[in-house]
Amino acid sequence: MAKSKPRLPSPPNHSDREEKEATAQFYREWLRKPMSVAAVSPSSKRLAEAVAMAVGKAQSVVELGGGTGALTDALVARGIPNLVVVESVPAFCELLRRRFPGLEVIEGDAAHAAKLLEGTRVPAGTADVVVSGLGMLTRPRDEQQRLLEAMLELLRPGGHIVQFTYSLFFPAARGLLAEMGLESRREGMTWINLPPASVFVVRRAEKSAAVA
Ligand SMILES: C[S@@+](CC[C@H](N)C(=O)[O-])C[C@H]1O[C@@H](n2cnc3c(N)ncnc32)[C@H](O)[C@@H]1O
Repeated sequence: MAKSKPRLPSPPNHSDREEKEATAQFYREWLRKPMSVAAVSPSSKRLAEAVAMAVGKAQSVVELGGGTGALTDALVARGIPNLVVVESVPAFCELLRRRFPGLEVIEGDAAHAAKLLEGTRVPAGTADVVVSGLGMLTRPRDEQQRLLEAMLELLRPGGHIVQFTYSLFFPAARGLLAEMGLESRREGMTWINLPPASVFVVRRAEKSAAVA
């Protein structure tokens, strides 16, 4: 797949019609693959803002599972200079490219993100933040671990993961984060979302960061 380096996207200014089209596309894919889409509706603006807040002043961000761009919209609005989105559903990738001209959108499986990001603005090991829109709750433990390992591979030392979830707890099997030398902190809870969602920040635990 050719990976050119397009211009930075301009801040979004989407019409109601575009928003409605994106939502309709979301439901079409949801009907086809509910487990993969793993949400009953696109994230709300309030949730997207909470995620963008947890991203902070990052310069290089990878978003995994961009969907129809609900979180992407808030990330682009932040003016992050280097932003790349990975999404597995081809129709969502097309939609993201239409909604955000100039944004680097890579089609593929987030489990192989390091390979997919070769030659992009944010190659593996350089991301300040990985934003994960991937549904984790319903995945088996080994798959959760594979995806978390894939996210860690993308981060620069000291970088962090931002994950949202429809749970009060981090959506990983019991003990998995500790086993991987990670710790999570709940940054907030958004009731204005269907369903309500929490935003978590995940970092390498201090002890394991010191020996890494
Ligand atoms: C819960 S939806 C979130 C969509 C969007 N970020 C939002 O907040 O509205 C999860 C998204 O991740 C995508 N996805 C699921 N598994 C994936 C994988 N292994 N690699 C890349 N994308 C994946 C789905 O197609 C879907 O668009």
